[in-house]
Amino acid sequence: MVQREQWGSRVGFILAAAGSAIGLGNIWRFPYVVYENGGGAFLIPYFFALLTAGIPILLLEFGIGRTGKGSAPLSLSKLSRKFEWLGWWQVMICFVITTYYAAILSWSINYFFYSFNLSWGEDTEAFLFGDFLGVPDDVVTAAGWKLGGLQWHILLPLAAVWAGVYYVLVRGVKQGIEKMSKVFMPILFVVMLLIVIRAVTLPGAAVGLDHLFAPNFGKILPSFLGGTNPAWYSVWLAAYGQIFFSLSIAFAIMITYSSYLDKKQEVNNSGFIMAFSNSGFEFLSAIGVFAAIGFMAVSTNSDVKDVAAAGVGLAFVVFPKIINAFPALNGAFGALFFLSLIIAGFTSLISIVEVLIAALMDKFRLSRKAAVNWVVGVIAALSLAYTTGAGIVLLDIVDHFINNFGIVIAGLLEVILIGWFANATRIREENNLVSDYRVGAWWNVMIMGVTPLVLTFMTYMNFRLEFSEAYGGYPFHALITFGWVMVGITLAIAFTLAYAFRWKQDSDREVRGA
Ligand code: ALA
Repeated sequence: MVQREQWGSRVGFILAAAGSAIGLGNIWRFPYVVYENGGGAFLIPYFFALLTAGIPILLLEFGIGRTGKGSAPLSLSKLSRKFEWLGWWQVMICFVITTYYAAILSWSINYFFYSFNLSWGEDTEAFLFGDFLGVPDDVVTAAGWKLGGLQWHILLPLAAVWAGVYYVLVRGVKQGIEKMSKVFMPILFVVMLLIVIRAVTLPGAAVGLDHLFAPNFGKILPSFLGGTNPAWYSVWLAAYGQIFFSLSIAFAIMITYSSYLDKKQEVNNSGFIMAFSNSGFEFLSAIGVFAAIGFMAVSTNSDVKDVAAAGVGLAFVVFPKIINAFPALNGAFGALFFLSLIIAGFTSLISIVEVLIAALMDKFRLSRKAAVNWVVGVIAALSLAYTTGAGIVLLDIVDHFINNFGIVIAGLLEVILIGWFANATRIREENNLVSDYRVGAWWNVMIMGVTPLVLTFMTYMNFRLEFSEAYGGYPFHALITFGWVMVGITLAIAFTLAYAFRWKQDSDREVRGA
């Protein structure tokens, strides 16, 4: 039997896991999520979600992968044959995410180069949607889609992203992923530090930071505790959503990465180190982003709330505007910002694609090279859809559904199946045996009680909201096809892979007993 690949060192593993966690979610999602959900007061739901769900699930996944020594479907099926499909569903969630995550990276590469001569001009919004993305008028209506043709300037960097992914992953875990993480993660940290230092020394930075961190407790509390926000619970849901995506949990990544650990490798301390590094980076980027937004607000005499924006708008509309307004060295600041997105996003993309490769290698006994050829070939071809003029709308719908009805439900099923129907305590004990310190019974309370309860509520609210209004105001057919049908297909393929195909060697899957 071929020896499973392994990380070369503990530091290598922690850097790779942090590289997966620290991604686009930290730089462009987190700052706005904090701002929109109560500023400083959001830290309470954020840390609550981190301690009740984030770290417990991370340690659970480290335990499953380290002892299962297999991709998510293999490791889960070793706990019980009945869990294999969940592993495949998480793999399919990664499959969907890879296609649009790579597209955002290719935009960042373009914008990195645009920074040098501020090619986006004064009207950065018109540039993004018009010249750059080529979004046609009435891109999607009840009558159907207008694709708007392939945008070659997006396609070329996208090809470069896939070539980079191929280059790293074909080299394997130690020579590819670990080496890349050891080089890229320190660079990312330095780049982010430079961004933050420059941003907080700008005039007006304090105004932005004040808006970011000024606590609004009314927003996070129910009315009987003095809250003023009827949808206070949405803030708590946002905290859980952020933690799941940002920590790369519940979509098979951490199971896969920890399956390359030596069985004796410590996990509890590594998990805490990795989770807090991820949070630390998140705060650092929030400080950098909001200091820059404060500068912009003050220099244009506007309010922070009129400058701040979420996701795509933040990175590709607001930031170019800020870069235009810079007192000096505009291009350098712009290049640093987009470089941070490229590095953070690339190391995360690598981890998401590795999930697919590991699963195919395990199930079909493919060589790494064959698996990389198949996986990168197929996802690269599918990602072309996001280089059309309709790409951004497609991305918005797919991202919304895969996050709210993929990751959250997969996380819920994971804690219920393993917490209640497998021997979760044994996983904790196995982790404790090899770790620097022990994790106590509180972990069981989180995995078996608190997290399933919160995630059930979250799923219920997500469904309610979805059926009360059309997401993004998009037409019904678009939400059905690229939302519900897309999620349905991922599930159908997951069941097919679990039940219609046998493991190439049954000894691969000797059941550990649930
Ligand atoms: N954890 C990765 C991110 O934050 C996926 O983008």
